[in-house]
Amino acid sequence: MYKLGMTGPKNRLIIAPSLLAADFLSLGAEAAAAERAGADWLHLDIMDGHFVPNISFGPQIVQALRPVTRLPLDVHLMIAPADPHIAAFAAAGADHITVHPESGPHLHRTLQLIRALGKKPGVALNPATPVDSIAHVLDLVDIVLVMTVNPGFSGQTFLPSQLAKIAALRRLVDDSGRPIALQVDGGITPATARQALAAGADTLVAGTAVFASPDYAAAIASLRAAAPSPRPALIETLG
Ligand code: DX5
Ligand code: ZN
Repeated sequence: MYKLGMTGPKNRLIIAPSLLAADFLSLGAEAAAAERAGADWLHLDIMDGHFVPNISFGPQIVQALRPVTRLPLDVHLMIAPADPHIAAFAAAGADHITVHPESGPHLHRTLQLIRALGKKPGVALNPATPVDSIAHVLDLVDIVLVMTVNPGFSGQTFLPSQLAKIAALRRLVDDSGRPIALQVDGGITPATARQALAAGADTLVAGTAVFASPDYAAAIASLRAAAPSPRPALIETLG
């Protein structure tokens, strides 16, 4: 059953537009427009052409974006190794730093490093990466990201095979008792958002669905409308 996320303002659904699908010649304006349109976080996809078959941008762009928005900068590292670059992204103004377990030999140490730098650590699971890969590091994790495409590009098609993983992670996160965001990334549209939220996600990354739309506010509102209405009992519980 869908459970309201614990991480957002007033427990609401978190929408994190991904700048990968924005106009790269106007990243500052695009970030500001996403904020005005009602985004909660700004998702920044960092790709190295090695861990994934595409190259995007590095810490200089994160630093340049920092002053143009008050939104948390949700940095998704698709680079290997990640450890040597984490301090640079932290210094650039990242608020969340999410890594893939495959990007280094010591995930636990990487998460400790992110936390030691005062940032919220996340772990991203590729479509073939099992739920178990994070079972023993949940005490260090603030975000679990389920990739619903193979990482590397925006505009790909949502993989329904990942819905069972979202549901399994929902249980794991609930059992942990920690306020961990359960994020879904890749091929998110209002229709696939509905499926991901029903499976237990509470945080949506959306590239194409927002930045390829002529009206970012309407696009974000459509994603928000995909959330099932909470049952009255749940509203009472949450106050
Ligand atoms: C893919 C990235 C995603 C991507 C999502 O590797 O992690 O964040 O930008 O783009 P859409 O929403 O277009 O699939
Ligand atoms: Zn991403």
